[in-house]
Amino acid sequence: MFLGIDIGTSAVKVIVAPASGDIVTTASVSLPISSPHSLWSEQAPDDWWTATKAACAEARSNAPEAWSKIAAIGLSGQMHGATVLGADRRPLRPAILWNDGRAFAECAVMAENFPDHGRFAGVPAMPGFTAPKILWLRDHEPDTYAAIAHILLPKDYIRLQLTGELATDMADAAGTLWLDEAERKWSTTLCEASATDPAWLPTLYEGTEESGRLNGEAAETLGLGKNIPVAAGGGDAATGAVGIGAVKSGDAFLSLGTSGQFFIADETYRPNPESYVHAFAHAVPDRWFRMGVMLNGASPLAWFSSVSGADIPTLLAEAQEARADRVPLFLPYLTGERSPHNDPYIRGTFSGLETSTTRGEMARAVIDAIAYCFRDARDSLAAAGGVVDRAMAIGGGTRSDLVLQTLSDALDLTLVRTVGADTGPAYGAARLAAVMTGDLSLDDLAEKPATKSTFQPRADETSRHAERHKRYQALYRALAPLARPEEAGH
Ligand code: XUL
Repeated sequence: MFLGIDIGTSAVKVIVAPASGDIVTTASVSLPISSPHSLWSEQAPDDWWTATKAACAEARSNAPEAWSKIAAIGLSGQMHGATVLGADRRPLRPAILWNDGRAFAECAVMAENFPDHGRFAGVPAMPGFTAPKILWLRDHEPDTYAAIAHILLPKDYIRLQLTGELATDMADAAGTLWLDEAERKWSTTLCEASATDPAWLPTLYEGTEESGRLNGEAAETLGLGKNIPVAAGGGDAATGAVGIGAVKSGDAFLSLGTSGQFFIADETYRPNPESYVHAFAHAVPDRWFRMGVMLNGASPLAWFSSVSGADIPTLLAEAQEARADRVPLFLPYLTGERSPHNDPYIRGTFSGLETSTTRGEMARAVIDAIAYCFRDARDSLAAAGGVVDRAMAIGGGTRSDLVLQTLSDALDLTLVRTVGADTGPAYGAARLAAVMTGDLSLDDLAEKPATKSTFQPRADETSRHAERHKRYQALYRALAPLARPEEAGH
């Protein structure tokens, strides 16, 4: 049995599964996020550990026999979070997360220091990435900066609790902007450009390599055997890919979670910094991927549910009945946007509301907007040479037929919902652990789960969405200057 642990943004999720065959159990414990200032998004690293222990306790009580057979652990996690530790290996401040927009000016500093950094780091600096946040700490929290002894990514803080090791994997390192993506090693030039001492960075492993062994204290707390090996694992984009077998060139999927990703696996490193497509190292050796990342993913639907007071199934049913010609436009940028705008300031908007507008029509607008973000990502990937006509779909958003059909129509793409589509990154992490122990081969990782349903684009809907998407883009262009703060120049 293998244990996959995913340090997500909204929850820690764990999964227990054999190398092949059905998942035995899953458990999930939610996490708080704090936003003490506009643009800020933070979590306390110790909350990740508390939630991990609780999720493991739940999985253990769900399936005690399988738990007692766990032979290895794999880790997955939200990417990019700056988790800065002092010499005592304790957090110096809350972690600054992937959807935090404060380090916009620092990205320009990094670009000034090293104009061609995007070609090496896989993508130009954007505020959510780890490196510009260190420049921000230097300028805004000098005492914290002066005390930094180690920098970890979120899941690597959990690795530290499990094994005592300071380590990470290529696919999570890929999102720091310190990794030379082609060479798969830390880049001293990228470190220099972001005021980062390379000695602060953890040891790098491929995702399928052992990064350490469970220490006595963690083994006792979790009810696992001491010395169980812990695979390096991966950032959640890459482990999500491993979970559904997206490891060969052209394997593509959309991830509909708290964030959204349009991901295409690759056998070579193909940066295209101009398009803001992320070209990153994969969690398996000698593989890379290209992806567009949408900061809001499927979460605008959860937001609309909370503000409208209707649960998501009710909203989806009402949206299904909405009259297409009465649906307003919505910009879903509740926490700004990364691909393709690199705009931390833009925020959400409904446009075209009338006295007759219904909640269902607004919900339909939210669903359309989720799809239009992915359409923008499709266009950026195409500009970077990544064109696919078929993709799988993973994440909580895949539970809705309406969401998947809208995506298929709006992107003119065949979409495949596979078995286990909503288990995602934790399962991928467990599979990486099974490769580490030799229970799976790298070739086994390319196996795709069985198809549950397929969504085909409908030509009339594709052309209707193409026209609406143009107005959606125009709405963004019109509103973007209004959202920028004075000092950012307007
Ligand atoms: C990827 C990204 C998100 C986070 C959170 O670049 O920012 O996928 O990893 O899920």
